[in-house]
Amino acid sequence: MSAGSRGGKATAAAAANIAFIKYWGIRDEALVLPVNPSISMTLRSCRSLCTAELLAGDRPTEVLLRGDGGELAPAPEAFARGVEAQVERLCEWAGEAVSMRIAAHNSFPTGAGLASSAAGFTALTVAVVGALGRQVEPREMSVLARLSGSGSAARSVFGGYVEWPAGPSDDAGHGVQLAPPEYWQLCNVIAIVDPTPKSVSSRAGHRAAPTSPYYERRQRDLPGRLEVVRRAIAARDLGLLGPAIEEDAIELHLVAMSSRPPIFYWQAGTLAVLEAARRLRADGVEVYCTIDAGPNVHLICGPDDEAAVAATVETLDHVRYVIRDGVGGPPTLEDEHLF
Ligand code: DP6
Repeated sequence: MSAGSRGGKATAAAAANIAFIKYWGIRDEALVLPVNPSISMTLRSCRSLCTAELLAGDRPTEVLLRGDGGELAPAPEAFARGVEAQVERLCEWAGEAVSMRIAAHNSFPTGAGLASSAAGFTALTVAVVGALGRQVEPREMSVLARLSGSGSAARSVFGGYVEWPAGPSDDAGHGVQLAPPEYWQLCNVIAIVDPTPKSVSSRAGHRAAPTSPYYERRQRDLPGRLEVVRRAIAARDLGLLGPAIEEDAIELHLVAMSSRPPIFYWQAGTLAVLEAARRLRADGVEVYCTIDAGPNVHLICGPDDEAAVAATVETLDHVRYVIRDGVGGPPTLEDEHLF
């Protein structure tokens, strides 16, 4: 992850990640530090692209979105504010008083529980650092991405299987790769039940989590479950991984649904996909579900079962479409810019 020339322009691509053990609860909002460690798989196809270019003179930072047809349009206000804040933070970190033109593009639905902000803020961070002409190690990039406010971005800086620890030490600040993508070729069939942005942000969910009576219980169970997931990844054992990740996803939603006030991310289609996965398992297909803060279901399976899993969930009434994704690599700097 190196950088372009000083005073330049850089474009980065970064992928979303799907959490096997979920980050749910924030210990320090300003520093974006989690209550519990989390483990994820970085994806291959659900990617964000971002171009950052230094602006000459006194012009303010400009934030654009690139549509699927290649057209550029000003980004919605709330999105632009988050991007501007991260650009400012990174310029301050670099000791540069500059502004930038930023353009972003996602290859998948944004804000629907597909970790679009993790991909987006990672791509933004890598692109801005590149345009500033800086070279940083992935661990520092992970810290910088995390400070955007999207904590899970700390994991998208690495490819493959990634842990974001939560200890009181410096380790809490950045992700750590547990295994590279080629170590275990897992697939992620994403059943899109609703592609529209979720109504309650992850940040609101993190804040509300401690009001759930099940939250403390979750903290007690997590060390054992984290260990199972670490062991399952090391042993490439889907039969060990699957039940643990399904349990963790259901628990996150149990906490969300019992927060005061309650947060419901699930829809009817979410339950239909969970049921279809149970039926597939009864027929001998090794597939397990996980669900981030949204209604869409990620079905984790091996390459031999991917087609059967996709074909099954595609036919469900509530499923709008399916994305076939899998484990992928770290962010990259691209030669082609968005503008
Ligand atoms: C349920 O605060 O990282 O996906 O900024 O919206 O990406 P965004 O959310 P963030 O919380 C992520 C919550 C989660 C679980 C996880 O990815 O660990």
